[in-house]
Amino acid sequence: MRVTVFGTSGLLGQELVKELSGEQLTALSSKDADLRDQARIRDVIRGARPEWIILAAAYTDVDGCESNRDLAFAVNCQGAIQVAQAAREAGSRLIFLSTDYLFDGTKRSPYEASDTRNPISVYGESKARAEERLLEILPDVCIVRTSWLFGHGGPCFPATILKLAADRPEIAVVNDQRGCPTFTPDLASTLAQLCRKSARGIVHATNSGDCTRYEFAIEIVRASRMPTTVRPVTTAEFPRPARRPTYSVLSADSLHAYNIHMPEWQDALRRYRGKTPVAPAPGV
Ligand SMILES: NC(=O)c1ccc[n+]([C@@H]2O[C@H](COP(=O)([O-])OP(=O)(O)OC[C@H]3O[C@@H](n4cnc5c(N)ncnc54)[C@H](OP(=O)(O)O)[C@@H]3O)[C@@H](O)[C@H]2O)c1
Repeated sequence: MRVTVFGTSGLLGQELVKELSGEQLTALSSKDADLRDQARIRDVIRGARPEWIILAAAYTDVDGCESNRDLAFAVNCQGAIQVAQAAREAGSRLIFLSTDYLFDGTKRSPYEASDTRNPISVYGESKARAEERLLEILPDVCIVRTSWLFGHGGPCFPATILKLAADRPEIAVVNDQRGCPTFTPDLASTLAQLCRKSARGIVHATNSGDCTRYEFAIEIVRASRMPTTVRPVTTAEFPRPARRPTYSVLSADSLHAYNIHMPEWQDALRRYRGKTPVAPAPGV
């Protein structure tokens, strides 16, 4: 398979490079190809002539997007449109990485791929608009919505919790945001399978099961045998620039339709911990 990946310095991109090492891979960081540089995007895709493009590059600072709306749209929406146009010219298939944050969180049962987008943040809005345009430009595009990524090689929720827990006897974590944690090696494997299965349309891909941020933190601390107490708090107690959906569990039905099943998030967390150096106990 000839594959071009954008965003290879990112959390997911690094795992995609490992997962696709046996393929004819063109790996592009933001230094190789900035999504805002239309001529460069066209050149690299024309040069590589990939069967598949995986667009894992994005401006992912959800709070930063609120004060940098133009940048969020330039990268996440206009950049994606440019990749899709170049893909159409080159005859390449495209997987676009999207997000649970394009839902408003008012549902109380898992979001289906067909549910209505109603983003409540600039980041979610930039991804929602990108999805709409991509489906027009490339009718066989595959949009993969995922959520709560964690993995090695960059900042993520478990790494933050482990660092805080190593420094403090008690940490406070919000208990009114429910979603699906997703381990980047599991998602990279799923994306490779979706290419091989010639997937199209909107697919939800997360680890199985769901939890609140607080429940996730409890499991992280427990699995690390740390003495830290985790205290549940509300989002209102810790206001952030961007609103987050209170519920953004993604239904796996669209993924199961391709006969792909992702492991439970607790199992993924064990594998993540297995490769994470144990943080020193407080005071040691
Ligand atoms: N993280 C999550 O919880 C989450 C949840 C749902 C969906 N997603 C989506 O999943 C995908 C992968 O996320 P991630 O967590 O792996 O992201 P990440 O770690 O923040 O990595 C983002 C990647 O995009 C690159 N990038 C940023 N601006 C760029 C630009 N203007 N031109 C070209 N490349 C640019 C970055 O390059 P530099 O390192 O050089 O800046 C980096 O390689 C993204 O599409 C994201 O929106 C993520």
